[in-house]
Amino acid sequence: MRTQYCGQVTAANLDQIVTLCGWVHRRRDHGGVIFVDLRDREGLVQVVCDPDRADMFTVAESLRNEFVVRMTGKVRRRPAGTENANLTSGEIEVLCHEIEVLNASVTPPFQLDDDNLSETTRLTHRVIDLRRPAMQRNMMLRYKTAMAFRRFLDAKGFIDIETPMLTKSTPEGARDYLVPSRVHPGHFFALPQSPQLFKQLLMVAGYDRYYQITKCFRDEDLRADRQPEFTQVDIETSFLGEAEITALMEEMIRSIFKEVLDVDLLAPFPRMSYAEAMSRFGSDKPDLRVTLEITDVTDAVKDVAFKVFSGPANSETGRVAAMRIPGGAQLSRGEIDEYTKFVGIYGARGLAYIKVNDISKLSDEGLQSPIVKNLHPQALATIIERTGAQNGDLIFFGADKTKIVNDALGALRSKVGHEKGYVNGKAWEPLWVVDFPMFEYDDEDKRWTACHHPFTSPKDEHLDLLVSDPGKCLAKAYDLALNGWELGGGSVRIHRADVQSKVFSALGIGDEEAQQKFGFLLDALKYGAPPHGGLAFGLDRIVTMMTGAESIRDVIAFPKTQRAQCLLTEAPSPVDDRQLRDLHVRLRQKVETSVEVTKD
Ligand code: AMO
Ligand code: AMP
Repeated sequence: MRTQYCGQVTAANLDQIVTLCGWVHRRRDHGGVIFVDLRDREGLVQVVCDPDRADMFTVAESLRNEFVVRMTGKVRRRPAGTENANLTSGEIEVLCHEIEVLNASVTPPFQLDDDNLSETTRLTHRVIDLRRPAMQRNMMLRYKTAMAFRRFLDAKGFIDIETPMLTKSTPEGARDYLVPSRVHPGHFFALPQSPQLFKQLLMVAGYDRYYQITKCFRDEDLRADRQPEFTQVDIETSFLGEAEITALMEEMIRSIFKEVLDVDLLAPFPRMSYAEAMSRFGSDKPDLRVTLEITDVTDAVKDVAFKVFSGPANSETGRVAAMRIPGGAQLSRGEIDEYTKFVGIYGARGLAYIKVNDISKLSDEGLQSPIVKNLHPQALATIIERTGAQNGDLIFFGADKTKIVNDALGALRSKVGHEKGYVNGKAWEPLWVVDFPMFEYDDEDKRWTACHHPFTSPKDEHLDLLVSDPGKCLAKAYDLALNGWELGGGSVRIHRADVQSKVFSALGIGDEEAQQKFGFLLDALKYGAPPHGGLAFGLDRIVTMMTGAESIRDVIAFPKTQRAQCLLTEAPSPVDDRQLRDLHVRLRQKVETSVEVTKD
C-alpha cells in the first residue's frame, strides 16, 4: 500500500513519487493551501495539498485528526526558512496529488500533543495515548533493550526456557495472586512472583545457563517503580561464583547501555557493602549522584539531656545520625517545616537541626537550634567534627529505630540533593551493593526472615554463624543499583542439603513445613545439584531509567494504576455466579455486577 514510512522520507527521496499511509496528526488550513502532518510509527512528514487539484483538495478539506489516509505525491525541498530540524523529514515535504481516506475517526478524547493529560485520561484511552510519539519511542526503546538482552545472553550460551504461570507459591515475600482450580475444589494455583524455584530446578536438570524475559506477579503496595505484574530478565547459571556472575552481569548491562543509548557506563562498577550503604546513605540502593552523606553520631549522644537522642542512642535497635547540608543555613523556616513533614512519611517523629553560624562557639551563641541547649559541648564538638560542618552549613538529625532513621534520612538525602542541586553532575551512577545480611529480624513476629530468599547461600566463612549468631551471617547476595533504583538482584544459591536445613532452622521453618512448601526443590537438590546462582533484572525499571520516564507505567503498554486496576479493560471485574460455582468459590458478600471502576 505504501512506498515507505512517513518518518523515513528524507532529502534522499527528492523528486521521487512516494505513497505514504498513516494518521492525520494535524491539519492546518493556510488560506487555500492545506498542510497535513502525516504520522506513523517512524515519525511525521509534512504533506502539502494545493487547491489546483480540485478532487484531491476536497478530500483534504474533509480530513480530521486521526483519520487514516493514504497519500501520494512528489518529494520536494521545503522553502528556505521553513525546515524543521526536529524531524528526520524536516528538510522536505510531499506535494500531494492523490488522497485516499482509508478510515475516518471520531474526534479523539484528547489532542495527541497535549502534555497536560491526567494519567487517568491516558490510561482510560490507552490506545490513543499509545499513539503519541513519546509513548511510541518508549515502546521501541523497550523492544530494543529486550533484544539487546537477548543478543548478549544468546552469545554467552544462555538459553530461553519457559516456566509455568500456573504454579505454586514462590518465596519472594510478597502476597500471591491466586487462581482457583475448577478440577480440584478448594485448591489454588499461585501466579509466580518470579521463576526462582524453576530456574534452580533447570540448573539441577543440567541446562547450565538459562534466561527468560518473563512476567512476574506480586500483590503488593504499588509505587512509581512497582507494578503488580512486571517483567524480569531472569538469569541463572551453574558453576560460576559470586564474582564471576556479577562480572558477567555487569558486562551485559554495560553492553546494553552502549547498544541502546550509546552510553559508556564506567568500568568497573563500584562495589559497596550493604552495611556501608546503609550507614552512609540510609539506603541499600543509594543514588550516588547525590553528594550528601549521612554520619553516625549514636555513640556521641548516649548521655545528652535531650531524650529524643539519648533514648535511641542507648537502645540496641536505635540510631542517631546526622546529615550535613553545605550552605544549608540559608534554608528557610518554611523549607525546614516542609522537610520535617516529608520525613514523617517514613515514620520520623521530627527533624532536629542545627544551623552552624560560628563553629568557634559551640553553644547557643554559634549554633542556632532548638536542641543545642540539651546537647553538651563534647557531643556538639563530635557532631561538628564528624560531619565536617563549616560556618554557613546546616545539620539535620534523625533519631529513632535504625530502620526509620535510615528510611527518613535516606529519602531526605535524595530529595534535598536533587531539589537543591547537591549532585555530582554525572548522568549514570551504577553500584553493586554486596555482602547483604542473610536474615532480617522481624520485630512484630519476633523471628528471623530471609533478606533475599531462603535459598540464598551464606558466605562460606559464615556457615557457623547460621546457628550461633544469625544476625551477623552475611549472604552471597548482590543487588545492582542505578541512580537510586534497584535494577536487579540475585544470589549464589545453596546447593547442599545440610546447609539448606540449617538455614530453614534459623528461619524457624520445620522439616515438615519445608517439605510441604518447597519439597520439590529440596528433593531435586538431592540428585546432584551443581553449584549455581543468578540474578533478575527489572526490565520495566531499566527501560524507565533509560527513557527518563517518570513512572514505570510509561514504559508498559497496558499497565495497572496505583490501585492495581486496568482502566482500559476495567479489570478486575465481577464474574457471574455460574463461573464462581464452577470454581467452587462463594463470595462472603454479594458484589454488584457492575462495580464502577475507581479512577485515581
Ligand atoms: P527480586 O525480588 O529482587 O529478585 O526482583 C528482581 C528485580 O525485579 C524488579 N522488581 C519489580 N519491578 C517492578 N514492579 C515490581 N513490583 C517489582 N518487584 C521486583 C526489580 C528487582 O530488582 N528471584 C529473585 C532473583 C534472583 O535471586 O535471581 C527475585 O525475584 O528491578
Ligand atoms: P521537641 O523536643 O519535640 O520540641 O523537638 C525538638 C526538635 O527535635 C524539633 O526540631 C523536632 O523536629 C526534633 N525531633 C523530635 N523528634 C525527633 C526524632 N525522632 N528525630 C529527629 N528529630 C526529632
